[in-house]
Amino acid sequence: MKIYNCLLIILFTFGYLEKVVSYHSPRPYETIINFGDSLSDTGNLLASGAILFPVIGNLPYGETFFKRATGRCSDGRLIIDFIAEAYGLPYLPPYLALTKDQNINHGVNFAVAGATALDEKFFIEAGLQKFLWTNDSLNVQLGWFKKLKPSLCTTKQDCDSYFKRSLILVGEIGGNDYNYAAIAGNITQLQAATPHVIKAIIMAIDELIAEGARELLVPGNFPIGCSALYLTLFISRNKQDYDENGCLKAFNGYSETHNKELKLALEALRRKHPHVRIMYADYYAAAKRFFQAPRQYGFTSGALRACCGGGGPFNFNMSASCGHKGSKACENPSTHANWDGIHLTEAAYRYIAKALIDGPFSYPPLKPPLATRKSSTLTSFQYRYMDNAVYSKFQ
Ligand SMILES: *[C@@H]1O[C@H](CO)[C@@H](O)[C@H](O)[C@H]1NC(C)=O
Ligand SMILES: *[C@@H]1O[C@H](CO)[C@@H](O)[C@H](O)[C@H]1NC(C)=O
Ligand SMILES: *[C@@H]1O[C@H](CO)[C@@H](O)[C@H](O)[C@H]1NC(C)=O
Repeated sequence: MKIYNCLLIILFTFGYLEKVVSYHSPRPYETIINFGDSLSDTGNLLASGAILFPVIGNLPYGETFFKRATGRCSDGRLIIDFIAEAYGLPYLPPYLALTKDQNINHGVNFAVAGATALDEKFFIEAGLQKFLWTNDSLNVQLGWFKKLKPSLCTTKQDCDSYFKRSLILVGEIGGNDYNYAAIAGNITQLQAATPHVIKAIIMAIDELIAEGARELLVPGNFPIGCSALYLTLFISRNKQDYDENGCLKAFNGYSETHNKELKLALEALRRKHPHVRIMYADYYAAAKRFFQAPRQYGFTSGALRACCGGGGPFNFNMSASCGHKGSKACENPSTHANWDGIHLTEAAYRYIAKALIDGPFSYPPLKPPLATRKSSTLTSFQYRYMDNAVYSKFQ
C-alpha cells in the first residue's frame, strides 16, 4: 500500500512538474478570495457545526467527484472549484477549517452556506431569525478576512503586489435574504429587501477596495423562479404565472430587479474607483440557458426537477429534502441541472464556470487562463494532493 502511494505521488509529481515547466508566463491570478453562501461554500458551514443543515456532512452530497461529503452543497464541484482549476490553483480551503500550518498562498474561502448579505439584526427585526442557517453574514465574513489579512500580506508594497494578482469574488450573496422571506411566505418582504441587499454588497466591495482589492468578480442572482424550491412553494394553477420554460415569471422578475440594481450600483463603483477592475458575473443568463434548452447541456431529465429529493412534481419536498429520510438521489446527476431543489449539480456549475471564463457572461471579462493548462486531465486524486502540501512544494 505504501509503495503504491509513493508510486502515485512520483507519477503525479513528474506529471505536474511537466505542467509547471510548460508555463511561459506567470499565472493571471495567484490567489482567489471568496465571499458568499452555499453556492460557493467549500466547507465553512460544516466546520461551524451545520446544526440546521446537518445532511451537508453526508452522502449523497459530494458523491460525484469527491466521493465524500466536503460541505459543498452539490453532488460535486462548485463554480469556484472550476474557476480555481481553470487558473491552475488548488481548491480554496474553508476559513473555519484552516489548520495552523495550512498553505493559504493561493486563497481562502469565507463563504458560508445559508449566509445572507444583510446582518442577523435585519432578520430579527423582520421576524425571520428562526429560518437562518447561520449568522455568518457578508459582514462577518469580511471581519474574518480583515483578521486574516496580516498573514496574507503586510507592507503596502507587499499588499499592492498581492492584490494585483488576487481575484476576489463577492457572491453570489443575497439569494438567501430572499429565500428566507420566501420560505416564510412573505413576498412583500422579499421585494422590500432588494435595496438593502444591494447596499450591503456594495458596502462590502467598497471596504474590500479600501483594504487593497484590485480585481473583483461580483455575481448576480440566479433565476429563482426556475428553482424547484420556489416552483414547489409557489405552485400555481394559473398558467399565466409561468413562462415558456415552466419557470415562475414573478420570481424571475425579482431576480432580474436585483441584478439590474446590482449592475447599476457596480457601474457607480467603477466610476468611483477607476483603477479597480469590477466585473459582473451574469449567473442569471448563464443558468437561464439550461431552462431554455436543457438537452443541449445533457440535462435529459429537464432542468427543473431536482436530482435528489423526496418526490412531488419537482422532486422537492420540504419535509423530505435531499439527504433526509424519504429522499433519494437520481442515478446520474449529470442529467439534471438541479441537485437538491435549491442548489445546482456539478454538471450545471461546470457550464456556468466555463461561461464566465470563456465568456461572454462576465463583464468586463476575467483574465484568460493559461492556454497550456489542461485541467481536465487531472484526476480527483491529483486534485486532492493539490489541496495540501504537495502542491505548494512544486511551486
Ligand atoms: C445566531 O445568533 C443568535 C444570537 O444572537 C443565536 O441565538 C442563534 O442561535 C444563532 N444562529 C445560528 C444559526 O447560529
Ligand atoms: C411581511 O413583511 C412586511 C414587510 O417587512 C411586514 O410589514 C409584514 O408584517 C409581513 N407580513 C407577515 C404576515 O409577517
Ligand atoms: C413529503 O414528505 C413527507 C414526509 O416524508 C410525506 O409524508 C409527503 O407525502 C411528501 N409529499 C409529497 C408531495 O411527496
